[in-house]
Amino acid sequence: MTKSAKLTIGEKVIDLPIHSPTLGPDVLDIRKLYAEADVFTYDPGFTSTAACESTITYIDGDKGELLYRGYPIEQLAERSHYLEVCYLLLYGELPNAAQAADFEYRITRHTMLHEQIHYFFRGFRRDSHPMATMVGVVGAMSAFYHDSLDINDPWQREVAAIRMIAKLPTIAAMAYKYSIGQPFNYPQNHLDYAGNFLHMCFAVPAESYTVNPVLAKAMDRIMMLHADHEQNASTSTVRLAGSSGANPFACIAAGIACLWGPAHGGANQACLEMLREIGTVDRIPEYIRRAKDKDDPFRLMGFGHRVYKNFDPRAKVMKESADDVLGLLGIENNPTLQVAKELERIALEDEYFVSKKLYPNVDFYSGIILDAMGFPTSMFTPIFAISRTVGWISQWKEMIGDPTQKIGRPRQLYKGEKTRDYVDLRHR
Ligand code: CMC
Repeated sequence: MTKSAKLTIGEKVIDLPIHSPTLGPDVLDIRKLYAEADVFTYDPGFTSTAACESTITYIDGDKGELLYRGYPIEQLAERSHYLEVCYLLLYGELPNAAQAADFEYRITRHTMLHEQIHYFFRGFRRDSHPMATMVGVVGAMSAFYHDSLDINDPWQREVAAIRMIAKLPTIAAMAYKYSIGQPFNYPQNHLDYAGNFLHMCFAVPAESYTVNPVLAKAMDRIMMLHADHEQNASTSTVRLAGSSGANPFACIAAGIACLWGPAHGGANQACLEMLREIGTVDRIPEYIRRAKDKDDPFRLMGFGHRVYKNFDPRAKVMKESADDVLGLLGIENNPTLQVAKELERIALEDEYFVSKKLYPNVDFYSGIILDAMGFPTSMFTPIFAISRTVGWISQWKEMIGDPTQKIGRPRQLYKGEKTRDYVDLRHR
């Protein structure tokens, strides 16, 4: 039986259909509300609004559960690898051996950038933040790859998807090399996805560089854990940009711009900078006090999440990786890490954080790992962007294929002036 809800507005009674999802709470369908009742709904921050139907990722914030196409993130982190997860997100099922080999071949053959893009890089200041460079270069891809811009052609959509997944690591590594004044490294197709990225970032022509398998595995995990996260701010940005028919490169550039903010992907950089600013364990109480102070805008970066109100399942896996990497590098006792461990302990016991369900999120640990690997904080968010590209693309492809898709156009609660007449300058 189809469920519905009744909404009474004055004399009018409106019947609103209720949809039952595979998992999660029921969804009230208000699409006809304005036409039938002449009212809008008001939901800043979309805390109660489902903006689309999706089959890709599911989060249960109360249970601390994250599923990609139904598979728990813990199982994928333990048994899968990033490119397999990319296939899963893009096509809906885990690949068989032939499909996996074909997909990896296609990704690997698209890792190089059009040579002209090297000159484009040179237009940026050396001290540009790599995210600024990435927004520009990814947006500019639509000026270089004209044969994959037609969003109505499924083959071109596919080629654009493969291109972006393959080329984002190359772009991020070039942004990094450019910022430190070193020559660009071309991709090495004999390396796996994560290993190739490490090579492009850390190899220099004057020396040979061997990818450490423990670090490559940790990088692969970071990528898997960040690959998709349902309708978060940057994904919603990609969908909104795409809803107008914008080309896929422009949409992903919009997603990268949104990800940069410190409340979203920029949190991993902000978190490590905060740990360094705290500096020593004895200064932690001061920062805890500031985080609780309503008149102080300071927040403990790396804590809290809009959806997870139990724990962030990605943080648990990331914490294990942090132990592996720091153990391997023999830096378990560096001061930043000591501050991180003590901050985590205090916050998990503190009434303010416990009552507001503010747990360490994925960014709390990913920054510590990336720092240990030798990345500057400015590269943390670009690495998130590489990882999330497959999620953005999968969601974008899903949206384009949805027959009910419309241009995104929220309404507003207008609180401005009523109609008034223009006043000439001399009378103001
Ligand atoms: N430190 C101190 N207090 C906090 C924090 C924090 N990190 N996060 C939330 N609060 C408080 C907040 O002040 C509010 O208190 P009150 O109810 O008394 O006004 C309450 O907790 C609820 O906060 P909110 O801002 O309404 O929650 P939200 O769901 O809108 O925000 C968040 C979620 C992630 C933006 C926020 O927790 C935050 O700013 N965290 C720090 C930034 C961060 O680590 N972001 C990475 C998120 S994970 C990666 C990703 O998905 O991008």
